[in-house]
Amino acid sequence: VTALRRCTTIGSLRGAVAQARSEGASIGFLPTMGALHEGHLEGVRLLAARCDVVVVSIFVNPTQFDRADDLAAYPRDLPADEAALAALALDVPLLVFAPEVAELYPTEPRTTVHVSDLTEVLEGAARPGHFDGVATVVTKLVNIVAPDVIAFGRKDHQQLQVVRRMFDDLDVDVEVLEIPTVREADGVALSSRNRRLDDDDRRAARALSRSLLAAVRAARTLRSAGGRHDAAELERAARTVLDATPVEVEYLAVVEPATLRPPDGVTEGPLTVAVAAYVGSVRLIDNVLVGDLDDEGRLLAAADRDDTEV
Ligand code: PAF
Repeated sequence: VTALRRCTTIGSLRGAVAQARSEGASIGFLPTMGALHEGHLEGVRLLAARCDVVVVSIFVNPTQFDRADDLAAYPRDLPADEAALAALALDVPLLVFAPEVAELYPTEPRTTVHVSDLTEVLEGAARPGHFDGVATVVTKLVNIVAPDVIAFGRKDHQQLQVVRRMFDDLDVDVEVLEIPTVREADGVALSSRNRRLDDDDRRAARALSRSLLAAVRAARTLRSAGGRHDAAELERAARTVLDATPVEVEYLAVVEPATLRPPDGVTEGPLTVAVAAYVGSVRLIDNVLVGDLDDEGRLLAAADRDDTEV
């Protein structure tokens, strides 16, 4: 099993990191809100292959929740998270940073980090204040851990673009590592929120990845006919799937990956298809980077495995 040490205060985490640095260690960092799943664990493995020490923060950040019920219902299980990390059998030591809310926010938030433009669409439009909460806590965590490499999941595509922009604009000297989206056998993207789905909702949750798969197939049809990516056509393909399911769609969008804005006409470049939907009372998001053969492949592989596909 992996050597694991838990720190709950900023001071003790800083001390442990300083000790490792004094021995010449490089530091990898995965910020999480716990309820760890294979996507997180893949991130830890990728960091462990690159760095001498990996820090995993486990902190359900209240300032990024726009709804109190969602914050209250967010799954929390620190012992299970630590057991999953310890079972990874890594040859680098892990530091788990699991502070209480009062440790990171001893006062009401007074200073916040706001990234403009990128945060006005998609998740930002649907969840007011969400990205201020994310940008602020990521800034605090990066200042506490001071990592060489920080990892974020591609499932939160917009979050990834927002933190990249923030690091760039604020001259934060850290390398960003992207964790590919890990999917269940039937294509559903892993998410801590999946734990809240009952059996019927879990089946209904397939609507999101299947709609993305329809967009991927439409893109491949266009490309094999020598055509380019037509956002309207991709959206139509995805929407047809969603319309036939019981999920309540909040948005479905086809955007340029870096700007998050709709493309100007057809394009040869990659496009992000992003979806957010309520499945019962649980809000889920998913996306695919059309034109990225690995990302497309993960959806296509799930479709091949999923013999119940409609
Ligand atoms: O992606 C998440 O789990 C959170 O948004 C993050 C980056 C840990 C900030 O709280």
